[in-house]
Amino acid sequence: MGRWRTEQENGIYLVEGPCRLQGEIRVQGAKNAALPILAAALLTPESVIHRCPRLSDIDAAADILRHFGCRCEWDGGTLHVTRGEMTGCEIPEHLMREMRSSIVFLGAAIARCGSARISMPGGCELGPRPIDMHLSALRRLGVRIEDDDGFLRCTVPGGLHGARIALPFPSVGATENAMIAACLAEGETELHNAAREPEIADLAAFLNAAGARIHIDAAGSVFIRGVRELHACEHTVIPDRIVAVTYLCAAAATGSSLTLRGVETDHLAACLPLFEEMGCAVQQNRRDATLSIAAPQTVSSLHMVRTMPYPGFPTDAQAPLMAVCCRAKGTSIFVENIFENRYKHAAELLRMGADIKVEGRVAVVEGVGRLHPARVECTDLRGGAAMVVAALGAQGETRIGQIRHIERGYEALDECLCALGASVKKQ
Ligand code: UD1
Repeated sequence: MGRWRTEQENGIYLVEGPCRLQGEIRVQGAKNAALPILAAALLTPESVIHRCPRLSDIDAAADILRHFGCRCEWDGGTLHVTRGEMTGCEIPEHLMREMRSSIVFLGAAIARCGSARISMPGGCELGPRPIDMHLSALRRLGVRIEDDDGFLRCTVPGGLHGARIALPFPSVGATENAMIAACLAEGETELHNAAREPEIADLAAFLNAAGARIHIDAAGSVFIRGVRELHACEHTVIPDRIVAVTYLCAAAATGSSLTLRGVETDHLAACLPLFEEMGCAVQQNRRDATLSIAAPQTVSSLHMVRTMPYPGFPTDAQAPLMAVCCRAKGTSIFVENIFENRYKHAAELLRMGADIKVEGRVAVVEGVGRLHPARVECTDLRGGAAMVVAALGAQGETRIGQIRHIERGYEALDECLCALGASVKKQ
């Protein structure tokens, strides 16, 4: 889609650094929780989804729901989804292309219509993103999948039935697809080595509110007893832990003090110790769901950051944290264990004077005292957040192109940062 858009349409931020941030920010609802919940909404007659973030990825999901005959209406931060007559069981190619995560609609479409046809999702900026685990989990539930001229044709000849599924890797999307489809399958499904991200528990909470019978045990295995149908439900999406980390990074990169409101501090357990290691004072208050950070003028480097499936350090927070480490005292080492090609932002940070060496899954970041402004681009969603974090702490005006990537996942990042004292102009 982006190829024929002009630079202006893809959006530009002009960030004047360095700045000192101050004040409070309320954290938005989690995009990665809201997306599978919107897919699951296809199975309920009516869903009222509170704290649903207003983002281009959510608009893309709403477009898929509309394509399937649903009505989607906003009322402030609440999205009402009402199911209508199903108008087809194919997700058109342009909607699949708009958002790679639209694959999460596959399980719901099959459970709703008994069949589905989708184009193969292409690779993306994070390297090839295969869907083999999604497909083999769905096959175990009784789905027949055939290649139909670049499309996948999915049918359920004998109906969906429960199964024992062990994922070879705890894929977030494959867990979500299997969970959604298994809700309406005949019998019981056990999902072992499932992803344990908080977004999975939130999807289960939404589905259970609609009458599904899902239980997640302490080891993270998911047990689903199929039901005949789901009923109307209301749900509040969890706060976005990656957005929360991004604001913590913005504070750490600028020697600032900030308070985040509406955060689930437990979801940040693997992240907060790293901010302390960098020399920031972090104060959690579970009772009123706030988190405060006070960062020193120059942070210390991080010994080792390894991205891991939850409860490990999230891959989505790797890029903004790397942006902080660029100006830290000393050497920081990153090991990216989830995606093959998730260091594209490093090349953009180099333009700002950072010293980063990437070798396969490892990135070595030598802290330099200062970053200078440059013309940089958002390489992907979190890479874009990294550019903003770096620019807030750089000396002068940084021009960040392709901010449409940022708008996929951050609600009005420019306005929120300006309200905290930054100078970020959108063009
Ligand atoms: C989700 C998140 C994304 C996050 C990622 C890891 C959403 C919308 N996106 O993506 O922000 O970075 O989890 O926490 O929630 N894989 C396969 N075969 C498959 C599925 C995945 O090989 O069938 C591989 C992927 O290429 C990747 C790894 O498994 O290397 C993890 O992917 P997965 O957990 O599925 O991530 P997503 O659900 O795509």
